[in-house]
Amino acid sequence: MTHAVINLDLPGPTISRHLYGHFAEHLGRCVYGGFWVGEDSPLPNVGGIRSDVVEALRAIRIPNLRWPGGCFADEYHWRDGVGPRGQRPRMVNTHWGNVEENNHFGTHEFMHLCELLGADAYVNGNVGSGTVREMSDWVEYLTRAGDSPMVALRKANGRDEPWRVPFWGIGNEAWGCGGNLTAEAYTDLARQFGTFVRDHGDNRVYRIAAGGHTDEYGWTEALMKARGPYQAVSLHYYTTFPGDGRGGATTFTTEHYYDTMRRAQRIEELIRGHETVMDRYDPQVDIGLVVDEWGTWWDVEDGTNPGFLYQQNTMRDALVASVHFDAFHRHARRVVMANIAQTVNVLQAMLLTEAETGTLIRTPTYHVFEMNVGHHDARALAVHFRDGVPNRDGLDLVSASASTQNDTALVSLTNLDAEAPRTVLLDLRGREVSAHRARVLTGSHLQAHNTADAPDAVAPTEHPAVRAHPRGLEVDLPPHSYVTVHLDLGAR
Ligand code: AHR
Repeated sequence: MTHAVINLDLPGPTISRHLYGHFAEHLGRCVYGGFWVGEDSPLPNVGGIRSDVVEALRAIRIPNLRWPGGCFADEYHWRDGVGPRGQRPRMVNTHWGNVEENNHFGTHEFMHLCELLGADAYVNGNVGSGTVREMSDWVEYLTRAGDSPMVALRKANGRDEPWRVPFWGIGNEAWGCGGNLTAEAYTDLARQFGTFVRDHGDNRVYRIAAGGHTDEYGWTEALMKARGPYQAVSLHYYTTFPGDGRGGATTFTTEHYYDTMRRAQRIEELIRGHETVMDRYDPQVDIGLVVDEWGTWWDVEDGTNPGFLYQQNTMRDALVASVHFDAFHRHARRVVMANIAQTVNVLQAMLLTEAETGTLIRTPTYHVFEMNVGHHDARALAVHFRDGVPNRDGLDLVSASASTQNDTALVSLTNLDAEAPRTVLLDLRGREVSAHRARVLTGSHLQAHNTADAPDAVAPTEHPAVRAHPRGLEVDLPPHSYVTVHLDLGAR
């Protein structure tokens, strides 16, 4: 039995709800055909935004949405996406499928989407092919009240009041698609562009500088040393196999699954690495680490545009997500925000849709987000494995994290063993536990996934396999499963 000790009376840092953020790029069918179906669509929509997509994301309390990219952000010129839709210029989305971008989904549509979702806007500005003036004007257009050239333009386009935009990205992957820059060159640009991302009125912008590639700690160091006008540094990490053979989303062997999980658990090493650098320059933790792209990246589904990055989503993806959240929770002191890539129809999506049939599928990953809502803005509780956890060739087979708020606690338990069940003893100290209830997410096999014909093949159910133990609770974890245990807490 795996023995996990949790001191319920020793809450740590707050787990920001923004760790459960999302990312929507003009890529494939994420925006067009995902969120945006247009006002003339036969599908229920509000101003062109698909209603069932909004409803599904509200149910997982989507806290923020990053847009318009990704790589697309550094090609995007915001003025092309405002004004009457029919008159907006068209462009070619060269990064993603070489398809036409008609700019029908632009600034107003995105802010409307955020309003419908009840999510904070995270706008990613263009450094790679944009100008300082362009970025500065965009911030003014979005957030300024009163009178100014950009305010006049916004009003002419039908919106009197400014919006609130709390998060702003200063370029994206500047080491690659965002300009192929060196750390030093980008650091100078981040200082310059960041200066002109103004706080207008009472809108306070949290500026996020684009970080280095995976374990490029020198990039983080350059940004930290320069201490420019940004409040966070980003990190992107995908769970994938580089090169051509990423592997199919639903067609993989058990060994490939274990390799995947080893790669997923690498997020712990990467966060630690960047954290170590950041701690050196910023022991007060004024600067946040924002993991604004993460998730799985598989070969596209047969017959789909290779540039659209459309992939199915299985139990394996769900476990990649739960492992990431455990790491984010453990590092909640420094990791203040994260955005899975991407929300609808692209990479590790929450939702898969068809605009023609009206299909909407909640993926296994969606259900992990839903099961974790209780961690939003709760205080992290450390989980100590008294005798370690079972290990398979460097892979920890059990992953866990916990949090507490309002006299409750939520414990997350992942069994990464493909075949064997596990029992975890939750040794619960410091508070009485007056009641508990558990839920489980698993599938008949690792490749289990949801389709239009079987939309709930992988969906959470109540989990009765929890027993009282003199030290707390014994929880049975089926093979390849994710379990959450909710606790009602009594006296201290
Ligand atoms: O999410 C897909 C792409 O991955 C993003 O556009 C880019 O930032 C990253 O390389």
